[in-house]
Amino acid sequence: MNQQPVVGSSEGRLGVLLPGLGAVATTFIAGVEAAKRGLAAPFGSLTQMNTIRLGKRTEGRSPLIKDFIDLAALDQLVFGAWDPIADDAYDSAVTAGVLERSHLDPLEDVLRAVEPMPAVFDTAYVKRLDGPNVKTGANKRELAEQLREDIRRFKAENGCERAVMVWCGSTEIFLRPGDAHRTIEAFEAAMEANSPDIAPSMLYAYAAIMEGVAYANGAPNLSADVPALERLAIERGVPISGKDFKTGQTLMKTILAPGLKARMLGLSGWFSTNILGNRDGAVLDDPDSFKTKEESKLGVLEHILQPDMYPELYGKMYHKVRINYYPPRGDNKEGWDNLDIFGWMGYPMQIKVDFLCRDSILAAPIVLDLAIFLDLAQRSGMKGIQEWLSFYFKSPQVIEGLYPEHDLFIQQKKLKNTLRWLGGEEPITHLGVEYYE
Ligand SMILES: NC(=O)c1ccc[n+]([C@@H]2O[C@H](COP(=O)([O-])OP(=O)(O)OC[C@H]3O[C@@H](n4cnc5c(N)ncnc54)[C@H](O)[C@@H]3O)[C@@H](O)[C@H]2O)c1
Repeated sequence: MNQQPVVGSSEGRLGVLLPGLGAVATTFIAGVEAAKRGLAAPFGSLTQMNTIRLGKRTEGRSPLIKDFIDLAALDQLVFGAWDPIADDAYDSAVTAGVLERSHLDPLEDVLRAVEPMPAVFDTAYVKRLDGPNVKTGANKRELAEQLREDIRRFKAENGCERAVMVWCGSTEIFLRPGDAHRTIEAFEAAMEANSPDIAPSMLYAYAAIMEGVAYANGAPNLSADVPALERLAIERGVPISGKDFKTGQTLMKTILAPGLKARMLGLSGWFSTNILGNRDGAVLDDPDSFKTKEESKLGVLEHILQPDMYPELYGKMYHKVRINYYPPRGDNKEGWDNLDIFGWMGYPMQIKVDFLCRDSILAAPIVLDLAIFLDLAQRSGMKGIQEWLSFYFKSPQVIEGLYPEHDLFIQQKKLKNTLRWLGGEEPITHLGVEYYE
């Protein structure tokens, strides 16, 4: 275990910068504002509601996480955003149709005040969208410099002590890491050469890291998940994390699959299909954006079930994921899962899951926790990839050469033990050696 860090004070305002002011971002902002006014509870958020056990069970110490460790409070958060669509957070929330007017209208003033800054946006990377609120510049490096300027101005105008950035923008087309992403020199040269290998989300990540702003990526596109930006984050002492908020169907997968494996039950197939009709669904209707999402969703089972270690149980597993754009459903997605499993002597069984979920309702508390925990990491001098935040992601970002941990319960243990470590407490191993002492 590394030397225990000193956690810097959370005093002052924390800027929460959001590239993408769509369904997730506006549901997040509205929920925080509603919670601040006592109009709604922040269900789903560990930073607001979860406790943490400290020491032995007999000690009876289980404070709220936020009472155990110094976290930024909701009334310290100030929101900023970029979006190619110029709607303010109120109009965008109405368009998204996630929250009812009875929840939005009492917050109209504060939501109207969040107006998106002009975005770095290119339809080559998100083909099903367009909007007029975009930056222009001679090359991508210049655009990144404009984002840095936005960050500095936002912090100054809003009196922010610190800031974090959470990508809530659309899923970009599938890109493979290549030479342009290998070193920071190559990355900067590629920005200057306007290389197609540099997607807009990478420019936001670069700008954030250069400004000492922790960065999380809620979408599956590469963004900061390239060696050049990982190295830059370490050099500049900035925490980063990603990718792709773990909500809906993948959340269920990472709850169910560890259970099947824990009981050594076999799996011959898992078919997942979704219908959704929000703007995200429209973007994912484009095969190039869907490919990015598909890669992110497919990795999960493979890593949890370890077919190489258990070939008879999982070696022949057939895994298929489908996303269908179906406008009548809006943000209220329906995800069907069919699991073909087998048990004792190979007898087959089936499990059917029909999850009528609300994507943005599941994603909003993740944005909040990531903002608050990344700020904690930043104040504690933690830098580079924050694997302890894998809990929140479908495709946890890991150091090159390591495999990601997908099991929700291992991820939760890692998150809580990291908090215990930061707070100067012993990790909990669940090793019951009390009777032998
Ligand atoms: N809702 C969920 O449960 C969930 C789960 C995992 C990941 N995600 C991802 O989170 C992201 C946001 O989801 P959403 O439902 O809010 O989508 P959305 O379409 O409602 O919002 C995305 C917004 O990003 C904007 N945008 C696109 N490119 C941009 C750029 N370069 N700079 C700034 N803004 C840009 C769009 O104009 C849009 O307003 C998507 O990538 C989605 O795949 C969502």
